[in-house]
Amino acid sequence: MAATVIWGNELASKFREEMKLELEGLKKEGIEPGLTVVIVGEDPASKSYVKAKSKACEQIGIRSKVIELPADTTEQELVTIVQSLNKDETVHGILVQLPLPKQIREEVIIETISPEKDVDGFHPTTIGKMLTGQDTFFPCTPFGIVKMVQSQNIPIEGKHVVVVGRSNIVGKPVGQLFLNENATVTYCHSRTKNLKEITRQADILIVAVGRIHMITAEYVKEGAVVIDVGVNRKDDGKLTGDVDFASVEPVASYITPVPKGVGPMTITMLLHNTIKAARLLEQKERIS
Ligand code: GUN
Repeated sequence: MAATVIWGNELASKFREEMKLELEGLKKEGIEPGLTVVIVGEDPASKSYVKAKSKACEQIGIRSKVIELPADTTEQELVTIVQSLNKDETVHGILVQLPLPKQIREEVIIETISPEKDVDGFHPTTIGKMLTGQDTFFPCTPFGIVKMVQSQNIPIEGKHVVVVGRSNIVGKPVGQLFLNENATVTYCHSRTKNLKEITRQADILIVAVGRIHMITAEYVKEGAVVIDVGVNRKDDGKLTGDVDFASVEPVASYITPVPKGVGPMTITMLLHNTIKAARLLEQKERIS
């Protein structure tokens, strides 16, 4: 039987319509959420991600600003800019696009961002809160994946979630979010032995490695939910995932496509986090 396709673009539109209304309400309360995105250098993929983020903000009524810095920006220069954004009361969310040029240590920049404005959910304080089950800003791609699974009323509790990939941005935090939802979580990565044997045990298989079509039907248990986080370019220039959709779709119960899958949900969760940051910061401002 063919799998149900979880269209991230449709779910994203639904969430964005809801947020549009929420923003109209906030505006009446005098709260106008604002996101500032910082990009260093000219990486084309990063530039297109940043453009998509600011366009999404505009479309629903979040103020957005992009700060473009040259590739030879020093770590100290970037630290100074982030510190001034921390102090700026019109900025509720700060996002520094990764990767950064090699003269800038990413961890230094991430730790400079105020945890109150950390809409990416990358600051160690934010991650610590997520790890201990506290409310905080959840990283956008993992949070979007949880929302996609929940949107189909797929049970998570007690299910075996297998994550392939262990990046700080996706693999590690997505496993943690599913653990917080009472799943049993296994992480696989480049040094994992017998990968296929493990992925075949997954009720929910999440793949975030960046290797075109590495997951074929033989890696997937009949009826599994398959989430593809991969963004790869084929020879013809078109985007495709880490999952071989044509091969896996007949075996899975649910599957996410690439494009129009996880990607649009990532940006949607960034919008969500920015609104959340604005609410919390404005609340704090009014109390003090
Ligand atoms: N580079 C790739 N994905 C992301 C993301 O979610 N946030 C930031 N800041 N950089 C990225």
